[in-house]
Amino acid sequence: MGEPKKPWRPSKPDLGGGISHPARFSKELFPHFVDILGETKLILDPFAGTGRVHMLAEHGHKTVGVEIEPEWAQLHFGTVIADALQLPHPDNTFDAIVTSPTYGNRFADKHNASDPDRRRSYTFDIGRQLAATNSGGMQWGSDYKKFHSAAWVESVRVLKPAGLFVLNIKDHIRGGRWQDVTAWHLNCLTGLGLRVESVRPVLTKNLRTGSTATIRADSELIISFQKERTSQSTTNQQNRERLWASPHCTLPEPEQQPPQLFDTE
Ligand SMILES: C[S@@+](CC[C@H](N)C(=O)[O-])C[C@H]1O[C@@H](n2cnc3c(N)ncnc32)[C@H](O)[C@@H]1O
Repeated sequence: MGEPKKPWRPSKPDLGGGISHPARFSKELFPHFVDILGETKLILDPFAGTGRVHMLAEHGHKTVGVEIEPEWAQLHFGTVIADALQLPHPDNTFDAIVTSPTYGNRFADKHNASDPDRRRSYTFDIGRQLAATNSGGMQWGSDYKKFHSAAWVESVRVLKPAGLFVLNIKDHIRGGRWQDVTAWHLNCLTGLGLRVESVRPVLTKNLRTGSTATIRADSELIISFQKERTSQSTTNQQNRERLWASPHCTLPEPEQQPPQLFDTE
């Protein structure tokens, strides 16, 4: 008989002051980002997490991050604490958006585990309840779609005409079934008038190791889109109306106004 098997422990990287994060941009993504972005100047990541988007500054880009959780936002001075649903920027500000939303997979787990130090998820890594509008607690499903429909409307608002939208996304398997998260985001963003420019599969280290490696979704994707070159900027309201007309999005429609019973004049 060999040594008794040691219990499996996740390696939570200490990013400073005991802070960890379960889903940072993989380093393998960056050569692709650099290639796609070319000379693009001002870049926003509305879901900046630990702020790895700022690594693009080494390639001459100016980067701005938005992150809702202070512990993660404070890991980089270029990240502001704000909500991706209400970005603190004027319309048509950024030349590009480079971002990875949460994927609605097991990292959204937040149940009361007796061994939270051994698990990885947004809630377990931060060690407390997430902010109310943090998508990191949303499993793939209707709330997840509503949230991201609203977030993408807001991101497209701050993107300049002809700006680039670079999305890092991944599907997952749940209960033995493939969850088509990527197709949903792609349909949502094209419903907002973005045009797909390229789709790149990227094999990342996380996906090549572990006992379930062979049954995991086999790669992350980088999808790059371009916003229309309209001379007029579209308002948030126009973008929302556009999305309501698209069959793929689930942005909640505003409450219907009650019919007016009497003539008010
Ligand atoms: C996939 S992670 C991004 C990680 C990041 N790319 C990095 O390299 O660290 C998604 C991030 O979005 C943040 N987030 C979720 N909902 C948010 C919201 N409403 N506003 C701003 N940030 C949000 C989460 O806290 C999480 O850190």
